[in-house]
Amino acid sequence: MTLIRNCRVVDDGRVFPADILARNGRIEAVGAVGAKLSGGGGREIDAAGRLVLPGLVDDQVHFRQPGMTRKADIGSESRAAAAGGITSYMEMPNTNPPTLTMERWEEKMAIAARDSRVNYGFYLGASVDNLADIRAADPRRIAGLKIFMGSSTGGMLVDDEKILRRIFSAAPCLIATHCEDSRRIAENMKAAERKWGGDIPARAHPVVRDAEACFASSSLAVALARETGARLHILHITTARELELFAPGPCAGKRITAEACVHHLLLDDSDYEAGGFRLKCNPAIKTRADRDAVRAAVREGRIDAIATDHAPHLLAEKGPDYAGAAAGMPLAEFSLPVLLELESAGALSLPDIARAAAQNPAEMYGIPHRGRIAEGYWADLVIVDDSPQIARDENVLSKCGWTPFHGREFSRRVWMTMVNGEVVYEDGKVNDNIRGMPLEFRSHPE
Ligand code: DOR
Repeated sequence: MTLIRNCRVVDDGRVFPADILARNGRIEAVGAVGAKLSGGGGREIDAAGRLVLPGLVDDQVHFRQPGMTRKADIGSESRAAAAGGITSYMEMPNTNPPTLTMERWEEKMAIAARDSRVNYGFYLGASVDNLADIRAADPRRIAGLKIFMGSSTGGMLVDDEKILRRIFSAAPCLIATHCEDSRRIAENMKAAERKWGGDIPARAHPVVRDAEACFASSSLAVALARETGARLHILHITTARELELFAPGPCAGKRITAEACVHHLLLDDSDYEAGGFRLKCNPAIKTRADRDAVRAAVREGRIDAIATDHAPHLLAEKGPDYAGAAAGMPLAEFSLPVLLELESAGALSLPDIARAAAQNPAEMYGIPHRGRIAEGYWADLVIVDDSPQIARDENVLSKCGWTPFHGREFSRRVWMTMVNGEVVYEDGKVNDNIRGMPLEFRSHPE
Protein backbone atom coordinates (compact mmCIF):
# COMPACT_ATOMS: atom_id res chain seq x y z
CA MET A 1 0.00 0.00 0.00
CA THR A 2 1.20 3.53 -0.77
CA LEU A 3 -0.51 6.72 0.31
CA ILE A 4 0.50 9.90 -1.52
CA ARG A 5 -0.77 12.84 0.47
CA ASN A 6 -1.34 16.43 -0.53
CA CYS A 7 -1.14 16.19 -4.32
CA ARG A 8 -2.34 18.52 -7.04
CA VAL A 9 -3.77 15.91 -9.38
CA VAL A 10 -4.03 16.50 -13.14
CA ASP A 11 -6.65 14.18 -14.60
CA ASP A 12 -9.52 14.20 -17.07
CA GLY A 13 -9.45 17.92 -17.83
CA ARG A 14 -9.02 19.13 -14.24
CA VAL A 15 -6.35 20.06 -11.72
CA PHE A 16 -7.53 19.39 -8.16
CA PRO A 17 -6.13 18.75 -4.68
CA ALA A 18 -6.31 15.12 -3.53
CA ASP A 19 -4.67 12.25 -1.71
CA ILE A 20 -4.05 9.05 -3.70
CA LEU A 21 -4.11 5.56 -2.24
CA ALA A 22 -2.49 2.75 -4.24
CA ARG A 23 -2.77 -0.91 -3.34
CA ASN A 24 -1.65 -4.02 -5.22
CA GLY A 25 -0.40 -1.83 -8.07
CA ARG A 26 -3.72 -0.08 -8.65
CA ILE A 27 -5.25 3.19 -7.55
CA GLU A 28 -7.76 2.30 -4.87
CA ALA A 29 -8.93 5.81 -4.05
CA VAL A 30 -8.46 9.43 -5.11
CA GLY A 31 -9.95 11.39 -2.26
CA ALA A 32 -10.11 14.71 -0.51
CA VAL A 33 -6.84 15.80 1.09
CA GLY A 34 -6.62 14.57 4.65
CA ALA A 35 -9.57 12.18 4.31
CA LYS A 36 -9.12 8.78 5.92
CA LEU A 37 -7.79 6.89 2.91
CA SER A 38 -5.21 4.93 4.78
CA GLY A 39 -5.55 1.19 5.07
CA GLY A 40 -2.59 1.06 7.44
CA GLY A 41 0.98 -0.07 6.76
CA GLY A 42 2.96 0.65 3.60
CA ARG A 43 4.66 3.86 2.60
CA GLU A 44 3.28 7.34 3.05
CA ILE A 45 4.63 10.00 0.68
CA ASP A 46 4.05 13.69 1.34
CA ALA A 47 3.73 15.31 -2.09
CA ALA A 48 3.66 18.71 -0.35
CA GLY A 49 1.27 20.22 -2.89
CA ARG A 50 3.27 19.02 -5.91
CA LEU A 51 1.66 18.27 -9.25
CA VAL A 52 0.86 14.62 -9.90
CA LEU A 53 0.17 13.57 -13.49
CA PRO A 54 -0.66 10.19 -14.99
CA GLY A 55 2.58 8.53 -16.10
CA LEU A 56 3.20 9.31 -19.77
CA VAL A 57 2.23 6.70 -22.37
CA ASP A 58 4.76 7.18 -25.17
CA ASP A 59 3.60 5.56 -28.40
CA GLN A 60 6.86 6.08 -30.29
CA VAL A 61 10.33 5.16 -29.05
CA HIS A 62 13.37 3.46 -30.60
CA PHE A 63 15.35 1.47 -28.04
CA ARG A 64 17.73 -0.19 -30.56
CA GLN A 65 17.72 -3.71 -29.18
CA PRO A 66 18.52 -6.08 -30.79
CA GLY A 67 21.37 -5.11 -33.05
CA MET A 68 22.37 -1.57 -32.13
CA THR A 69 23.07 -1.90 -28.43
CA ARG A 70 26.15 0.28 -28.70
CA LYS A 71 23.67 3.17 -29.02
CA ALA A 72 21.01 2.03 -26.56
CA ASP A 73 19.19 -0.96 -25.12
CA ILE A 74 15.85 -1.71 -23.52
CA GLY A 75 17.31 -1.59 -20.00
CA SER A 76 19.16 1.71 -20.43
CA GLU A 77 16.43 3.55 -22.31
CA SER A 78 13.61 2.39 -20.03
CA ARG A 79 15.62 3.90 -17.15
CA ALA A 80 15.83 7.18 -19.10
CA ALA A 81 12.09 6.94 -19.78
CA ALA A 82 11.33 6.58 -16.05
CA ALA A 83 13.40 9.72 -15.39
CA GLY A 84 11.34 11.59 -17.99
CA GLY A 85 7.98 10.63 -16.49
CA ILE A 86 7.21 7.87 -19.01
CA THR A 87 5.61 4.78 -17.44
CA SER A 88 4.59 2.94 -20.61
CA TYR A 89 6.21 2.89 -24.05
CA MET A 90 5.62 1.33 -27.45
CA GLU A 91 8.81 0.53 -29.26
CA MET A 92 9.48 0.64 -32.99
CA PRO A 93 10.48 -2.25 -35.28
CA ASN A 94 13.53 -0.70 -37.01
CA THR A 95 15.99 -2.71 -34.97
CA ASN A 96 18.53 -5.14 -36.44
CA PRO A 97 17.09 -7.56 -37.40
CA PRO A 98 13.87 -5.63 -37.91
CA THR A 99 10.71 -6.82 -36.10
CA LEU A 100 8.91 -8.25 -39.11
CA THR A 101 7.69 -11.54 -37.66
CA MET A 102 6.02 -12.53 -34.39
CA GLU A 103 9.10 -14.60 -33.60
CA ARG A 104 11.29 -11.48 -33.64
CA TRP A 105 8.61 -9.66 -31.70
CA GLU A 106 8.61 -12.38 -28.99
CA GLU A 107 12.37 -11.97 -28.63
CA LYS A 108 11.94 -8.30 -27.79
CA MET A 109 9.17 -9.08 -25.32
CA ALA A 110 11.47 -11.53 -23.54
CA ILE A 111 14.24 -8.94 -23.28
CA ALA A 112 11.78 -6.36 -21.95
CA ALA A 113 10.37 -8.79 -19.36
CA ARG A 114 13.94 -9.16 -18.10
CA ASP A 115 15.17 -5.57 -18.43
CA SER A 116 12.43 -2.97 -18.82
CA ARG A 117 11.97 -0.69 -15.82
CA VAL A 118 8.59 0.55 -17.09
CA ASN A 119 5.63 -0.98 -18.95
CA TYR A 120 6.31 -2.05 -22.52
CA GLY A 121 4.77 -2.83 -25.87
CA PHE A 122 6.31 -3.48 -29.28
CA TYR A 123 5.15 -2.83 -32.82
CA LEU A 124 5.32 -5.28 -35.65
CA GLY A 125 6.89 -3.70 -38.74
CA ALA A 126 5.59 -3.82 -42.30
CA SER A 127 7.86 -4.65 -45.23
CA VAL A 128 7.19 -5.22 -48.91
CA ASP A 129 6.83 -8.96 -48.33
CA ASN A 130 5.56 -9.83 -44.83
CA LEU A 131 1.80 -9.77 -45.43
CA ALA A 132 1.40 -13.28 -44.01
CA ASP A 133 3.12 -12.21 -40.78
CA ILE A 134 0.90 -9.14 -40.57
CA ARG A 135 -2.24 -11.26 -40.95
CA ALA A 136 -1.02 -13.72 -38.33
CA ALA A 137 -0.21 -11.06 -35.73
CA ASP A 138 -2.12 -11.06 -32.46
CA PRO A 139 -3.76 -7.60 -32.20
CA ARG A 140 -4.10 -7.91 -28.43
CA ARG A 141 -0.37 -8.31 -27.95
CA ILE A 142 1.27 -6.07 -30.54
CA ALA A 143 1.07 -2.30 -30.07
CA GLY A 144 0.25 -1.89 -33.74
CA LEU A 145 1.71 -2.18 -37.22
CA LYS A 146 4.39 0.36 -38.10
CA ILE A 147 4.81 1.40 -41.72
CA PHE A 148 7.71 3.59 -42.79
CA MET A 149 6.02 5.35 -45.72
CA GLY A 150 9.10 7.55 -45.70
CA SER A 151 12.64 6.25 -45.38
CA SER A 152 14.51 6.77 -42.13
CA THR A 153 16.94 4.83 -39.94
CA GLY A 154 16.75 1.10 -40.75
CA GLY A 155 15.76 0.82 -44.41
CA MET A 156 12.16 -0.34 -43.87
CA LEU A 157 10.61 1.82 -46.58
CA VAL A 158 7.28 0.74 -48.08
CA ASP A 159 6.05 3.37 -50.53
CA ASP A 160 4.56 1.38 -53.40
CA GLU A 161 0.87 2.30 -53.39
CA LYS A 162 -0.33 -1.17 -54.41
CA ILE A 163 1.61 -2.85 -51.60
CA LEU A 164 0.45 -0.21 -49.13
CA ARG A 165 -3.17 -0.82 -50.11
CA ARG A 166 -2.76 -4.54 -49.42
CA ILE A 167 -1.15 -3.86 -46.05
CA PHE A 168 -3.82 -1.33 -45.05
CA SER A 169 -6.51 -3.88 -45.97
CA ALA A 170 -4.86 -6.76 -44.11
CA ALA A 171 -3.74 -5.15 -40.84
CA PRO A 172 -5.61 -6.65 -37.88
CA CYS A 173 -4.66 -3.71 -35.67
CA LEU A 174 -3.93 0.02 -35.56
CA ILE A 175 -1.51 1.17 -38.28
CA ALA A 176 1.06 3.79 -37.25
CA THR A 177 2.83 5.53 -40.12
CA HIS A 178 5.93 7.61 -40.70
CA CYS A 179 4.85 9.84 -43.58
CA GLU A 180 7.39 11.57 -45.82
CA ASP A 181 7.47 11.18 -49.58
CA SER A 182 10.80 9.68 -50.69
CA ARG A 183 10.67 10.89 -54.30
CA ARG A 184 10.12 14.48 -53.22
CA ILE A 185 12.97 14.18 -50.68
CA ALA A 186 15.32 12.78 -53.35
CA GLU A 187 14.56 15.72 -55.68
CA ASN A 188 15.07 18.22 -52.86
CA MET A 189 18.35 16.54 -51.98
CA LYS A 190 19.65 16.96 -55.53
CA ALA A 191 18.70 20.66 -55.40
CA ALA A 192 20.48 21.03 -52.03
CA GLU A 193 23.64 19.43 -53.48
CA ARG A 194 23.53 21.84 -56.41
CA LYS A 195 23.19 24.78 -54.03
CA TRP A 196 25.61 23.84 -51.25
CA GLY A 197 27.83 21.17 -52.82
CA GLY A 198 29.29 18.87 -50.18
CA ASP A 199 28.68 21.38 -47.42
CA ILE A 200 24.94 21.22 -46.80
CA PRO A 201 24.17 22.94 -43.46
CA ALA A 202 21.90 21.47 -40.77
CA ARG A 203 19.37 24.23 -41.40
CA ALA A 204 18.80 22.76 -44.89
CA HIS A 205 17.17 19.67 -43.37
CA PRO A 206 13.60 21.12 -43.41
CA VAL A 207 14.26 22.25 -47.00
CA VAL A 208 15.24 18.72 -48.06
CA ARG A 209 12.55 17.02 -45.97
CA ASP A 210 10.02 19.75 -46.60
CA ALA A 211 6.34 20.34 -45.86
CA GLU A 212 5.35 19.10 -49.31
CA ALA A 213 7.08 15.73 -48.69
CA CYS A 214 5.10 15.39 -45.45
CA PHE A 215 1.77 16.37 -46.98
CA ALA A 216 2.12 14.14 -50.05
CA SER A 217 2.70 11.07 -47.88
CA SER A 218 0.25 11.90 -45.07
CA SER A 219 -2.55 12.60 -47.53
CA LEU A 220 -1.87 9.26 -49.26
CA ALA A 221 -2.08 7.46 -45.89
CA VAL A 222 -5.38 9.18 -45.10
CA ALA A 223 -6.79 8.31 -48.53
CA LEU A 224 -5.80 4.66 -48.12
CA ALA A 225 -7.33 4.52 -44.62
CA ARG A 226 -10.61 6.00 -45.90
CA GLU A 227 -10.66 3.53 -48.79
CA THR A 228 -9.83 0.42 -46.77
CA GLY A 229 -11.39 1.31 -43.40
CA ALA A 230 -8.04 0.85 -41.65
CA ARG A 231 -7.46 2.41 -38.24
CA LEU A 232 -4.68 4.92 -38.99
CA HIS A 233 -2.49 6.90 -36.62
CA ILE A 234 0.01 9.23 -38.33
CA LEU A 235 3.12 9.78 -36.26
CA HIS A 236 5.13 12.97 -35.69
CA ILE A 237 3.14 15.60 -37.58
CA THR A 238 5.33 18.68 -38.15
CA THR A 239 3.53 20.99 -40.56
CA ALA A 240 0.55 23.35 -40.53
CA ARG A 241 -0.53 22.04 -43.92
CA GLU A 242 -1.06 18.43 -42.78
CA LEU A 243 -3.41 19.51 -40.00
CA GLU A 244 -6.34 19.85 -42.39
CA LEU A 245 -6.24 16.04 -42.72
CA PHE A 246 -7.40 15.57 -39.13
CA ALA A 247 -10.56 16.35 -37.20
CA PRO A 248 -10.56 18.29 -33.91
CA GLY A 249 -12.16 16.95 -30.74
CA PRO A 250 -11.90 13.89 -28.50
CA CYS A 251 -10.06 10.85 -29.89
CA ALA A 252 -12.88 8.44 -28.95
CA GLY A 253 -14.32 6.87 -32.07
CA LYS A 254 -11.88 8.47 -34.52
CA ARG A 255 -10.55 6.15 -37.25
CA ILE A 256 -7.76 8.57 -38.17
CA THR A 257 -5.64 10.17 -35.47
CA ALA A 258 -2.36 12.06 -35.32
CA GLU A 259 0.64 12.45 -33.05
CA ALA A 260 3.12 15.27 -32.40
CA CYS A 261 6.51 14.93 -30.71
CA VAL A 262 8.08 16.94 -27.90
CA HIS A 263 10.97 18.29 -29.98
CA HIS A 264 8.71 19.49 -32.80
CA LEU A 265 6.52 21.22 -30.20
CA LEU A 266 9.46 22.92 -28.47
CA LEU A 267 11.92 23.79 -31.24
CA ASP A 268 11.84 25.49 -34.64
CA ASP A 269 14.23 26.06 -37.53
CA SER A 270 16.01 28.94 -35.73
CA ASP A 271 17.45 26.28 -33.38
CA TYR A 272 19.59 24.61 -36.10
CA GLU A 273 22.21 27.32 -35.82
CA ALA A 274 23.15 26.35 -32.25
CA GLY A 275 22.06 22.68 -32.41
CA GLY A 276 23.58 21.72 -35.78
CA PHE A 277 23.36 18.06 -36.77
CA ARG A 278 22.36 17.10 -33.23
CA LEU A 279 18.91 18.36 -34.24
CA LYS A 280 18.76 16.36 -37.46
CA CYS A 281 15.73 14.10 -37.19
CA ASN A 282 13.01 12.79 -39.49
CA PRO A 283 10.66 14.46 -40.05
CA ALA A 284 12.70 17.65 -39.74
CA ILE A 285 12.04 20.41 -37.24
CA LYS A 286 10.18 23.00 -39.34
CA THR A 287 9.30 26.72 -39.11
CA ARG A 288 7.99 28.60 -36.09
CA ALA A 289 4.63 28.97 -37.85
CA ASP A 290 4.47 25.18 -38.26
CA ARG A 291 5.43 24.65 -34.63
CA ASP A 292 2.75 27.08 -33.44
CA ALA A 293 0.11 25.44 -35.64
CA VAL A 294 0.99 22.00 -34.25
CA ARG A 295 0.78 23.37 -30.68
CA ALA A 296 -2.68 24.80 -31.43
CA ALA A 297 -3.71 21.47 -32.96
CA VAL A 298 -2.84 19.66 -29.71
CA ARG A 299 -5.00 22.13 -27.80
CA GLU A 300 -8.00 21.57 -30.06
CA GLY A 301 -7.60 17.79 -30.25
CA ARG A 302 -6.70 17.77 -33.95
CA ILE A 303 -3.46 16.18 -32.78
CA ASP A 304 -4.50 13.44 -30.38
CA ALA A 305 -1.24 12.19 -28.89
CA ILE A 306 2.17 13.49 -27.83
CA ALA A 307 5.21 11.16 -27.95
CA THR A 308 8.98 11.51 -28.04
CA ASP A 309 10.26 9.52 -31.05
CA HIS A 310 13.21 8.86 -28.71
CA ALA A 311 15.88 7.84 -31.27
CA PRO A 312 19.36 7.60 -29.75
CA HIS A 313 22.46 7.59 -31.93
CA LEU A 314 26.04 8.03 -30.77
CA LEU A 315 27.30 11.62 -31.01
CA ALA A 316 30.05 10.33 -33.31
CA GLU A 317 27.28 9.29 -35.71
CA LYS A 318 25.81 12.82 -35.88
CA GLY A 319 28.30 13.84 -38.55
CA PRO A 320 30.68 14.44 -40.23
CA ASP A 321 28.43 16.17 -42.77
CA TYR A 322 24.75 16.50 -43.62
CA ALA A 323 24.44 13.29 -45.60
CA GLY A 324 26.49 11.31 -43.09
CA ALA A 325 24.73 12.52 -39.93
CA ALA A 326 22.28 10.00 -38.44
CA ALA A 327 18.72 11.27 -37.99
CA GLY A 328 17.17 11.11 -34.55
CA MET A 329 17.93 12.12 -30.99
CA PRO A 330 17.41 10.90 -27.43
CA LEU A 331 14.36 12.60 -25.93
CA ALA A 332 12.63 10.33 -23.41
CA GLU A 333 14.56 11.62 -20.43
CA PHE A 334 13.22 15.15 -20.84
CA SER A 335 9.76 14.31 -22.09
CA LEU A 336 7.74 15.73 -19.20
CA PRO A 337 10.15 18.62 -18.48
CA VAL A 338 9.77 19.76 -22.13
CA LEU A 339 5.98 19.56 -21.87
CA LEU A 340 6.04 21.55 -18.64
CA GLU A 341 8.11 24.26 -20.39
CA LEU A 342 5.34 24.42 -22.97
CA GLU A 343 2.87 24.86 -20.13
CA SER A 344 4.97 27.67 -18.63
CA ALA A 345 5.06 29.35 -22.06
CA GLY A 346 1.26 29.21 -22.29
CA ALA A 347 1.38 26.82 -25.28
CA LEU A 348 -0.34 23.87 -23.55
CA SER A 349 -2.32 23.53 -20.34
CA LEU A 350 -1.67 20.83 -17.74
CA PRO A 351 -4.90 19.03 -18.76
CA ASP A 352 -3.73 19.20 -22.43
CA ILE A 353 -0.52 17.45 -21.38
CA ALA A 354 -2.25 14.72 -19.35
CA ARG A 355 -4.77 14.14 -22.13
CA ALA A 356 -2.40 14.04 -25.11
CA ALA A 357 0.62 12.38 -23.47
CA ALA A 358 -1.17 9.82 -21.28
CA GLN A 359 -4.96 9.47 -21.47
CA ASN A 360 -5.44 9.58 -25.24
CA PRO A 361 -2.63 7.20 -26.22
CA ALA A 362 -3.93 4.68 -23.67
CA GLU A 363 -7.43 5.06 -25.03
CA MET A 364 -6.46 4.97 -28.71
CA TYR A 365 -4.35 1.84 -28.37
CA GLY A 366 -6.97 0.26 -26.11
CA ILE A 367 -4.62 -0.15 -23.17
CA PRO A 368 -6.89 -1.00 -20.24
CA HIS A 369 -6.72 1.03 -17.05
CA ARG A 370 -3.74 3.22 -17.84
CA GLY A 371 -3.27 6.91 -18.62
CA ARG A 372 -5.51 8.32 -15.87
CA ILE A 373 -5.47 8.95 -12.15
CA ALA A 374 -8.73 7.31 -11.21
CA GLU A 375 -9.97 4.41 -9.14
CA GLY A 376 -9.19 1.02 -10.63
CA TYR A 377 -6.42 2.33 -12.89
CA TRP A 378 -2.85 1.11 -12.51
CA ALA A 379 -0.85 3.41 -10.24
CA ASP A 380 1.39 4.82 -13.00
CA LEU A 381 2.10 8.29 -11.66
CA VAL A 382 4.63 11.06 -12.00
CA ILE A 383 5.23 13.70 -9.34
CA VAL A 384 6.73 17.01 -10.45
CA ASP A 385 9.03 19.24 -8.44
CA ASP A 386 9.17 22.98 -9.00
CA SER A 387 12.97 23.19 -8.79
CA PRO A 388 14.92 23.92 -11.98
CA GLN A 389 17.43 21.60 -13.65
CA ILE A 390 20.01 22.12 -16.33
CA ALA A 391 20.28 19.33 -18.90
CA ARG A 392 23.86 18.16 -19.41
CA ASP A 393 25.33 15.50 -21.69
CA GLU A 394 27.44 14.11 -18.88
CA ASN A 395 24.38 13.45 -16.67
CA VAL A 396 22.06 11.67 -19.06
CA LEU A 397 20.87 8.13 -18.39
CA SER A 398 20.39 7.29 -22.06
CA LYS A 399 23.25 5.04 -23.18
CA CYS A 400 24.24 7.32 -26.07
CA GLY A 401 25.44 9.86 -23.49
CA TRP A 402 24.15 13.17 -24.86
CA THR A 403 21.02 15.26 -25.10
CA PRO A 404 19.83 17.81 -27.65
CA PHE A 405 19.03 20.00 -24.64
CA HIS A 406 22.62 20.23 -23.34
CA GLY A 407 22.92 23.51 -21.41
CA ARG A 408 19.17 24.25 -21.43
CA GLU A 409 17.47 25.05 -18.15
CA PHE A 410 14.14 23.40 -17.45
CA SER A 411 12.08 25.14 -14.77
CA ARG A 412 10.66 21.90 -13.36
CA ARG A 413 11.81 18.33 -12.93
CA VAL A 414 10.44 14.84 -12.41
CA TRP A 415 10.69 14.13 -8.69
CA MET A 416 9.17 10.67 -8.58
CA THR A 417 7.87 8.14 -11.10
CA MET A 418 5.72 5.24 -9.97
CA VAL A 419 4.99 2.21 -12.16
CA ASN A 420 2.24 -0.23 -11.14
CA GLY A 421 2.37 1.26 -7.63
CA GLU A 422 6.14 0.89 -7.27
CA VAL A 423 8.60 3.78 -7.13
CA VAL A 424 10.94 3.30 -10.11
CA TYR A 425 12.54 6.76 -10.03
CA GLU A 426 13.01 9.09 -7.08
CA ASP A 427 14.99 12.27 -6.72
CA GLY A 428 17.47 11.54 -9.50
CA LYS A 429 17.87 7.81 -8.82
CA VAL A 430 16.44 4.81 -10.67
CA ASN A 431 15.35 1.82 -8.59
CA ASP A 432 16.84 -0.99 -10.66
CA ASN A 433 14.84 -3.68 -8.87
CA ILE A 434 11.60 -2.61 -10.52
CA ARG A 435 10.31 -4.16 -13.74
CA GLY A 436 7.36 -2.99 -15.85
CA MET A 437 4.51 -5.10 -17.18
CA PRO A 438 3.65 -6.05 -20.77
CA LEU A 439 0.92 -3.78 -22.13
CA GLU A 440 -2.32 -5.22 -23.46
CA PHE A 441 -3.96 -3.69 -26.50
CA ARG A 442 -7.67 -3.72 -27.28
CA SER A 443 -7.88 -1.09 -29.98
CA HIS A 444 -9.42 -3.58 -32.37
CA PRO A 445 -12.56 -5.64 -31.83
CA GLU A 446 -11.93 -9.39 -32.06
O1 DOR B 1 14.80 10.85 -36.86
C1 DOR B 1 14.38 9.71 -36.83
N1 DOR B 1 15.10 8.72 -36.31
N2 DOR B 1 13.18 9.45 -37.34
C2 DOR B 1 12.74 8.20 -37.50
O2 DOR B 1 11.65 8.01 -37.98
C3 DOR B 1 13.58 7.06 -37.12
C4 DOR B 1 14.50 7.45 -36.08
C5 DOR B 1 15.58 6.42 -35.82
O3 DOR B 1 15.24 5.25 -35.64
O4 DOR B 1 16.73 6.79 -35.76
